[in-house]
Amino acid sequence: MWNREDFLTIADLESEDVQKLVNRGLELKRKHHERRLEPLLKGKAMAMIFRKPSLRTRMSFEMGMVGLGGHAFYVSDEEIKLGQREAICDVARVVSRYVDIVMIRTFAQDEVSEFARFATVPVINALTDLFHPCQVLGDIMTIYEKKGDIEGLKVVFLGDSNNVANSWINAASKLDFQLVLAVAKGFEPADEIVSRARTEGARIEITYDPLVAAREADVIYTDVWVSMGMTGKAEERKQAMGHLQVNLELLKVAKSDVIVMHCLPAHRGEEITDEVIDGEHSVVFDEAENRMHIQRAIMLELLGR
Ligand code: CP
Ligand code: NVA
Repeated sequence: MWNREDFLTIADLESEDVQKLVNRGLELKRKHHERRLEPLLKGKAMAMIFRKPSLRTRMSFEMGMVGLGGHAFYVSDEEIKLGQREAICDVARVVSRYVDIVMIRTFAQDEVSEFARFATVPVINALTDLFHPCQVLGDIMTIYEKKGDIEGLKVVFLGDSNNVANSWINAASKLDFQLVLAVAKGFEPADEIVSRARTEGARIEITYDPLVAAREADVIYTDVWVSMGMTGKAEERKQAMGHLQVNLELLKVAKSDVIVMHCLPAHRGEEITDEVIDGEHSVVFDEAENRMHIQRAIMLELLGR
């Protein structure tokens, strides 16, 4: 059962939580565009701690907060050097005295868990090496927006078994859709994450063949082959994953109304071609926008508003 104190992984949520957050995200988006947002977080402040670069996460959280009447500020790891200059448990306790909510982007999932354990305010995982829960929650919102529902759909993830893929695996145990992962040999998702999701009812298939995966797909999703902070083996990964590129040939076997998603930043010409990302099936910029709306929903939930 989700304790609503923090948001660290989609695995912690119940199906109803996912539905509720997505519905709220959609409602907040409508209100945003009608300029009817209420200042529900007036007087609230968020610290945004980044140990890795960001465009979308930083701006969507900051403007997400501003639009609800609150304040958010960026904290670079150059300043605080989490775990080096100061122990995570101390940073967490100090920051909790100044702000109402914290967002962290870092390397190990354990760092976020430890921060959350010692913080006395809600903590949001804004990407670790293991998971990217805000991204996939926003992506689910985008699928509801474009397709009306996710139930019964075939969602295909092609590429590296990375943080975004892992959050999709978590999501498959919460909602009733078919998840097919097309991956490279030697780069399969961790058994532990897949088994847990399957135990909770997820319908997940893993294949090495992108054309088998993409057949009759409703959603085709990809992400970079070399994630932030991955050191070494970049060339090896690109060689191994070359056949997983999302291109026009691949789209031919999908449903005619397939949508193409990418969390961005994209490496055009690697995991996705220009024709596809700029083409009629691509929803990547709506997806990027939706980060802001879903994160508003997450912050409101955690702050009890
Ligand atoms: N999708 C995403 O999280 O983008 P940034 O790394 O730019 O925040
Ligand atoms: N898998 C990518 C996602 C970026 C939003 C990374 O971790 O770099």
